Amino acid sequence: MTLPTPIILDCDPGHDDAMAILLAAANPAIELLGITTVSGNGSLDKVTYNAQRVCALANIVVPIAKGANDPMAGKASAAPTIHGVSALDGAELPEPTFELSNFSAVELIADLVSNCDRKVTLIPTGPLTNIAMFLQAHPELHDRIEHISFMGGSTERGNWTPYAEFNIWADPEAADIVLRSGLPLIMSGLNITHQALATPEILNRILQLDTKLANTIVDLLKFFADTYRDVFGMPDPPVHDPVALAIIIDASVAKLVSAPVSIELTGEFTRGATVVDLHGTTGQSANVDVAMELDVDKFWNLMIEAIDSLGSKQK
Ligand code: RIB
Ligand code: CA
Repeated sequence: MTLPTPIILDCDPGHDDAMAILLAAANPAIELLGITTVSGNGSLDKVTYNAQRVCALANIVVPIAKGANDPMAGKASAAPTIHGVSALDGAELPEPTFELSNFSAVELIADLVSNCDRKVTLIPTGPLTNIAMFLQAHPELHDRIEHISFMGGSTERGNWTPYAEFNIWADPEAADIVLRSGLPLIMSGLNITHQALATPEILNRILQLDTKLANTIVDLLKFFADTYRDVFGMPDPPVHDPVALAIIIDASVAKLVSAPVSIELTGEFTRGATVVDLHGTTGQSANVDVAMELDVDKFWNLMIEAIDSLGSKQK
């Protein structure tokens, strides 16, 4: 019998991070060991509170530890307004049902990885500060990491600057440390996550589940849709973060291409860009498996099954 893949979700909830939490908690191929938070879509306090509230909403009980408030170089950037004042606007959410871990994010990751009987997969869906700090502080645990499957970057244009995606832009030095780590990396950039659109048809499929959780998720996604339409002119919002986890659940969800990926740190106009060498023009060796094509039906089936599974337990 295949054991579930043990994972740690490092996130900045955030509407799409919230969807990744649900998928991680519900899918039987995954064992969610813990959640760590990093400032990004909102301040560290806001995104941590949101992680607690999502867990309360779906009856998820796992350790949650606060991580970095500032990037490795400089101060925290203005959190984007895509997710609202709370960083998870759009629905009434319950108050937390359990206290935060006494560990910091790095300490919790180290503790969970050290004590797991299998190699652990890290799923960062926010800026990579916690992950970089963990890798620097615990070189002795690198061989206990199965994959780092992160949402970030892009093989095309950015979304926060013309050529930088937000998670990488928010802490390029951390991303550089992760990309140079030599660990097995899977990158889900905007080029694939923009295929994971929460269309009206998808919202209707979720509504038909007819549970309180499903209704709450639809309210959250409708808010997310409004801000994405207003800010980016996209008719439907891309639910970025669960893509990085869906690939671990079912490798056939995406087509992966091995390629050299570097982080631009000094470009006057391009700092935070992921420079993806898809055609071997740099002579560098590949360090990342880059997700290129999404099986949209498989992705949304996984997502909707997760919402259904968690919601039906609440009836
Ligand atoms: O650029 C999209 C990423 O930035 C997503 O992870 C979203 O949640 C924000 O963190
Ligand atoms: Ca995120």
